[in-house]
Amino acid sequence: MEYDVIVIGSGPGGYTGAIRCAQLGLKTAIIEKYPSLGGTCLNVGCIPSKALLDSSEHYYNAAHTFAEHGIKLADLQVDLAQMITRKASVVEQTTKGIAFLMKKNKIDELHGVGSFVDPHTIKITKDDGSEQIIKGKNIVIATGSKPMSFPSMPIDKKRVITSTEALTLQEIPKHMIVIGAGVIGAELGSVYARIGSKVSFVEFADSMIPTMDKTMGKELQKSIKKLGADFYFSHKVTKVENTGEEVIVNVDTPKGEQITLTGDYCLVSVGRRPYTDGLNLEAAGLKTDDRGKLEVDNHLRTSVPHIYALGDVIRGAMLAHKAEEEGTFIAETIVGQKPHIHYRLIPGVVYTWPEVASVGYTEEEVKKEGIPYKVGSFPFKALGRARASMDVDGLVKVLAHKETDEILGVHMIGARAADMIAEAVVAMEFRASAEDVSRMSHAHPTYTEAFKEACLAATDNRAINM
Ligand code: FAD
Ligand code: NAI
Repeated sequence: MEYDVIVIGSGPGGYTGAIRCAQLGLKTAIIEKYPSLGGTCLNVGCIPSKALLDSSEHYYNAAHTFAEHGIKLADLQVDLAQMITRKASVVEQTTKGIAFLMKKNKIDELHGVGSFVDPHTIKITKDDGSEQIIKGKNIVIATGSKPMSFPSMPIDKKRVITSTEALTLQEIPKHMIVIGAGVIGAELGSVYARIGSKVSFVEFADSMIPTMDKTMGKELQKSIKKLGADFYFSHKVTKVENTGEEVIVNVDTPKGEQITLTGDYCLVSVGRRPYTDGLNLEAAGLKTDDRGKLEVDNHLRTSVPHIYALGDVIRGAMLAHKAEEEGTFIAETIVGQKPHIHYRLIPGVVYTWPEVASVGYTEEEVKKEGIPYKVGSFPFKALGRARASMDVDGLVKVLAHKETDEILGVHMIGARAADMIAEAVVAMEFRASAEDVSRMSHAHPTYTEAFKEACLAATDNRAINM
């Protein structure tokens, strides 16, 4: 069988790319080694983690804020098994949706491990050991990533776990030690802190979510501290040991002292590595760089021009929507169109509560690059909408060019920031100035007024409600 395009991997990058190829009239096949489609994001990433974040947030509000709203509850309990069951059914519905989309778009869905036989030929090895050979004029590698670990913290998937196991725990941990306070640590640490676990974050850097604007990490820490969490910043884990009943984590403090943390679970969330195992890249004349990533040019072509790669397996942010844009980009490139991705305007979101969302330059980056800038900030506590809902934690911070007033970066922490950041992306795609946004009507009372007010503050320090 010969295809115009073979996509290896059915995550957000792979399935989006396959659908766009089919829309453009290309005969397309998608290969997935697992029985269900959707990749990391739908099966063990974005969707299940958000399902648990939402459930745990409902519980937390019922336990801690409902009474103040005048809602009385008795015998409130967490049913973790039900939370996990609901999460599984959300995943199932979502992955089945992708299978439906494959059929609708007449994409051949093939299950098994895809590996190169030569630059145009792919062997699919199925679970029962049988093999199928297909050929493609173009091939897209969309094989994603896997959790990373270090020899000092061996994952046993029982007590020393990755995000994948943290999504299916059968008991609420008494004390969860989270190594790495990045995005996964913050999100899944919040889930368990909200439903009663003691959570301790051990982080190599000096703040939470250290790659985002520093203000965000500081504010997020304040909110997560309210859940009773402990933080060990600038600390280095030297050894993690599962004794059977508990996990012992040895840590070096910034002063060079050694301390020991003891918990019943240890979540290792220190990043993810690109995944190319089993692809037999050599047969296609491809190799990875020293960090395991496939190198691509500006058209997302590897060193073999008809083989493209996208998403977590190449450079850039490991985000579902980044992979999706790249899937569309490759399909359109194959048919000779001239698509474009503005990588700096890919937003990043952390789905804690309050949510953190960000687009464009951070303050640290503008400083480092010597770009003249001004800052406007607006706190959620000054918003009528936030007071009405009792979601007063957070702020919006806008960075604008000092001379031109063009918006350079927007960083938000607060209720519904994940959805609000889209307005900033649109504004920045159209190269809006802070004053442009501050002159646009924002419905009252809404959280989006915080963005308008922060733009007013950045324009000429003329926020109205502060
Ligand atoms: P993947 O989704 O990893 O898919 C790759 C697929 O390729 C997999 O299904 C794999 O089985 C398959 N595959 C690999 N090798 C082969 C082979 N040889 N043959 C056949 N199939 C193969 N991102 C967000 O933007 N928002 C979020 O809220 C978010 N939450 C996350 C939460 C968690 C807990 C995790 C772990 C990640 C989260 N991410 C989130 C990141 C997001 O999941 C990834 O960036 C995204 O899935 C990458 O998409 P991809 O298409 O590159 O690869
Ligand atoms: P991450 O890169 O966000 O965070 C890893 C953290 O671990 C960093 O803060 C780092 O300083 C720290 N760290 C590294 N080595 C360490 C060590 N030895 N000891 C202590 N701390 C150490 O990676 P994470 O959280 O594992 O997530 C992986 C990827 O998944 C992210 O790149 C992210 O893009 C994606 N993801 C996205 C989500 C979202 O968009 N909401 C949610 C979850 C994951």
